[in-house]
Amino acid sequence: MSALSGKVIMITGASSGIGEAIARRLAQAGATLVLTARRADRLEALARELDPSRERIMQIPADVTVAAEREALVAITVKRFGHIDALINNAGYGQRGPLELMPMEALRRNYEVNVFAVVALSQKVAPHMRAQGHGRIINIGSVAGRIARPLTAVYDSTKHALEAISDGLRGELAPFGVQVVVIRPGFIATEFVDAANTASAETMADYGPYAPYLDEFRGEHAKLRRWAAPPDDVARVVEKALLARRPSAHYATPLHAKFFLFARWLLPTWIFDRFVRLKAKQR
Ligand SMILES: NC(=O)c1ccc[n+]([C@@H]2O[C@H](COP(=O)([O-])OP(=O)(O)OC[C@H]3O[C@@H](n4cnc5c(N)ncnc54)[C@H](OP(=O)(O)O)[C@@H]3O)[C@@H](O)[C@H]2O)c1
Repeated sequence: MSALSGKVIMITGASSGIGEAIARRLAQAGATLVLTARRADRLEALARELDPSRERIMQIPADVTVAAEREALVAITVKRFGHIDALINNAGYGQRGPLELMPMEALRRNYEVNVFAVVALSQKVAPHMRAQGHGRIINIGSVAGRIARPLTAVYDSTKHALEAISDGLRGELAPFGVQVVVIRPGFIATEFVDAANTASAETMADYGPYAPYLDEFRGEHAKLRRWAAPPDDVARVVEKALLARRPSAHYATPLHAKFFLFARWLLPTWIFDRFVRLKAKQR
């Protein structure tokens, strides 16, 4: 029997990519899961596949940016399973585009999902975890939480904010036996790029003078994403963080993520800037 057997774990953004992979891995380990995301059909199919008896996996469709839906998520979980051992804040997406042209509403929306919902959901589960004297909050950050680049600065800044919030929360909840961990994935093969492209197309039809740079950025980015690792790489690290008696504050995966973080730490900013500077596509 796994040490996770019977543990009640809530996973946000479980309808695809990393969240789905975490759900698969933790279901295998015997955990009791609450899966949430907006796409109800995907959640339903996943929950049914992982637990045909529907005894230990429940799906609750919800938008993490809606307060009433977050409230219901926690209330239904506690009512059904009695407690929450871990919350995995994974739901998120990337807003792209030059800051000069970024509608403030697009910026705010990215913060609503990637930062504010994480804080708000953590606020809802913290009283339960404090009362029981244990719990783990695992935030899916990114290498982008330590490295900011042109044209992705909004997303990168949300992940930087998540790092700071996790650092603060880790200290605040430690006396109560609740641990806070950040996972820093590098490139992972999920629906992330499609979601980023959709979000960016919806918010910015015209990139104006930045258009040639964005084309080049997309090409370079697509090349780099050839290194993308399967989402189970992240799921494996999440499982490790859940099982560790004393989890680290941060975990990076796969190897290229560790390399990027090390390079950013090592290199002076003026050299690093040369690697990420904008280039215009030759037309
Ligand atoms: N893929 C990468 O290269 C990479 C690298 C570093 C970090 N990350 C981080 O990993 C996390 C998961 O991303 P992914 O790569 O697995 O991308 P993905 O396949 O696009 O999954 C994103 C998940 O977030 C959910 N979501 C988005 N907005 C939501 C909202 N308002 N309410 C509830 N759920 C919402 C989506 O579900 P619905 O659309 O059904 O709501 C989906 O399940 C994100 O936090 C991302 O920033 C990804």
